[in-house]
Formats: sequence, structure tokens, C-alpha cells
Amino acid sequence: MKSGFVLKGDICYSRNPNVLHTRQDGYLVCEKGRVTGVFEQLPERYGDLPLSDFGGKLILPGLVDLHCHGPQFAFRGLGLDLELLDWLEAHTFPNEAKYRQEAYARTAYAMLVEELRRGPNTRVCLFGTIHLPATLLLMDLLEQSGLVTMVGKVNMDRNCPDILREESAAASAADTRRWLKDCAGRYRNTRPILTPRFIPACSGELMRELGQIQREYHLPLQSHLSENPKEVAWVKELCPQSSCYGDAYRAFGLFGAEVPTIMAHCVWSEEEELSLLKERGVWVAHCPQSNTNLSSGIAPVRRYLDRGLRVGLGSDVAGGCHTSIFRAMADAIQVSKLRWRLVEDGEAPLSLEEAFYLGTVGGGSFFGKVGSFEPGWEMDALIIDDAPLAAPFPLTIPQRLARVVYLSDDRHIVAKYVGGSRIF
Ligand code: GUN
Ligand code: FE
Repeated sequence: MKSGFVLKGDICYSRNPNVLHTRQDGYLVCEKGRVTGVFEQLPERYGDLPLSDFGGKLILPGLVDLHCHGPQFAFRGLGLDLELLDWLEAHTFPNEAKYRQEAYARTAYAMLVEELRRGPNTRVCLFGTIHLPATLLLMDLLEQSGLVTMVGKVNMDRNCPDILREESAAASAADTRRWLKDCAGRYRNTRPILTPRFIPACSGELMRELGQIQREYHLPLQSHLSENPKEVAWVKELCPQSSCYGDAYRAFGLFGAEVPTIMAHCVWSEEEELSLLKERGVWVAHCPQSNTNLSSGIAPVRRYLDRGLRVGLGSDVAGGCHTSIFRAMADAIQVSKLRWRLVEDGEAPLSLEEAFYLGTVGGGSFFGKVGSFEPGWEMDALIIDDAPLAAPFPLTIPQRLARVVYLSDDRHIVAKYVGGSRIF
């Protein structure tokens, strides 16, 4: 059993989207991997617990990336001159095909996992590739890193090149079952998640098979939704009977309700789709940097929030170049200002507090009680030495947080805890 401990420092976390809780020189008590409480003075009953004094440093909740493509880390920052469908054909599919070779996968995934381990995210939902050995390898490396993750073997059986197309719906389903068998009992912190790539790459037969697997294994699910106008038009052609893109997933029982589901992007979701997302409790992974890089558009995140949708942030590497969810917070604020100025003057920009909430509690809720320091929540924490970001005048804790969101990099993170375990 994990024992208890105390962290001392300048504590900052969200409880709701509009309020930051701060406690200068405060005490964060953790027992059995969960937060006991945040205190101004350390109560006597915790006096015997070991204390780490991070005086003058920030203590923040770990960040959550709801949407990242593991294999795409290898070509991040490259080939970003195309829109989604052309980018997939020209760059993504050829790069993902390389993961058939285990030696390549081992080298590439080791680079990704080391960056994730050192960075500010403590929980990540990742796409792998169609390849079983490479996906297990990614999961093994993630397990060793101490992060908590959900990882998907990708399913795709149509509209993609031979080098990356699974032979048939039946073959894709059989591989998925084999992968689930191989995962069973193997990990503590790494969970499988069903991962149909998106409607254009998955036949109806495959989606029916995945629906069956979902019901048998009760797995969560991740996919893409309404990212790019040409993609949305294509889905309309492929699924003329569906009333919207989200309805095409729903038709196979793969859109929320009993299935904890993440849909990435939702840039072009209209009223009906937003209602379906809300009704079925689907998490939207807002991926502002990818939406900019691939000219997908500016997602209506204010609309999601006004309607009470579940929303977190995603890096969408390699549509996005940065794994850090601090960067996604800054991007989310910046693109929301452009949307407000250029597209919808009724949709107010995101505040820093809101962006911080989305990148902690918003995405964390997909993993349970994660992303805050409320009593009983899982203890994921970052210790940040922001002394290099000092100003020639005193900064409040919210001001220091703003600096970290806009300017920090991984070198400022001096310690990291996941589920109450220190990973460095
Ligand atoms: N839609 C289907 N596949 C992908 C992918 O790999 N990245 C992004 N951004 N969108 C997708
Ligand atoms: Fe994606």
C-alpha cells in the first residue's frame, strides 16, 4: 500500500471553470494515492508523514491529454502544409505503416515516451497503429514510465493505402480480440481503448464488429468527429442514412451513452450533433493547435461550455506539434480570441482559468476524480520551478500560472507525481 506524504509549496488548482484555488506556502497531504486535503497549516495528525519542502515552487495538478497519436510523434512539425485528407495520404499513412517493423517502433516509441514522462501531462489517451506488436510495445513503455494512459490499437479497413489497410473487417476484429487478450492482466496503469480511426476508414461491417467487442469487454472508445469540411461532406456521402456525422457512430452503438467516449475535434458540429454529444455524455477533445496547423477551423469551444458538454484538451500530435497541454491551453485561448473577433462575436474568448480547467479537470474527468486537489481525488501533481520566469515586480500565484501556461517548458518541471507515486 502507498504510504502518505506531504508536499509544501505554492498550490494552485481548479474546482470549477471560473475559479482558481491558491494557497501560498500551503501543505498538500496525500494518502493511498489520493489527496487528503490542502491546508494553510499542517494539522498535527499529519505531522509524522514525510514532508517534501518545495518552498517557492508551484504545485499544480498533472495535465491531461485526451487525444494524441503515438506513432505521429516521429514526424511532428513536418509536412503541415496540407489539409486533413491530403495530409493523411501524404504523411500520416506512410509514416504509420513503418510501425510494422518492431525495431522502428521501439526506437520511435521510446522517444515519445521519454518526452511524455518528462513533460507536464500525467494522463494521456493515445492512438497506436493497426499493428499489434507495436501497440503492445507502446503500452509496455508507457507502463514503465509511470504515466496513466489509455491506448488503442487502431481499426481501419477501407479508404486507406494497402500498406496500412487491415485485410477485412473480420481480420481487424480478430486482431483486436487478440490484442485485448494480450493486454489482459499485463498492466496496472495502461488500459486498452477501442479506436476506430474515423468513419471514412471503417466499414459498416467493422463498426458492427467493434460494437460487439465493446459490449463484451465494456471498453471506452476514442475517435474523430467533424474535423474538416471535406471530411464531413465525405461522411455524408458514405452514410446518407445518418442525420449527422455523430449519428453514424451512434448507429453502431459507438457514441457515448454507456460507452465512455472521446471524440476529437468537433470543429464543424452543428446543433443536432452538439445535442447528441450532450445527451450521450461524450467528451470533446479540443485540439486547437492541430485545428490551426491543418487549417481545419476554429472549434466553437464557448458553445460547448455554454451547453454543458464534457470538454478536455488534446495535443493531436502530429496534427499538433507539441505534446504539452500547457501549450494546448495557450493555443485554446488564442484561437478562441480569433473566433470571437472573426467568426462569432457572441462567443466570448476563453479565460486562463477556463483553459486551465479544461486541461486538468475537464480531461481528467475521463479518468475519474483526476485533475484537482479536492479531497479524495487522485494525486497527480507537478512541481514547477518558475524562478526563471520571474518579473522585476512580485507576481501573484495566478500570474505565475499564466506565465507557466504561456512560457514554460519541460525544464521547469522539477518533480512529477502520478496517482500518488513520484515518477521523477
Ligand atoms: N482523422 C483520421 N485520422 C486522423 C489523424 O491521424 N489525425 C487527425 N488529426 N485526424 C484524423
Ligand atoms: Fe487525431
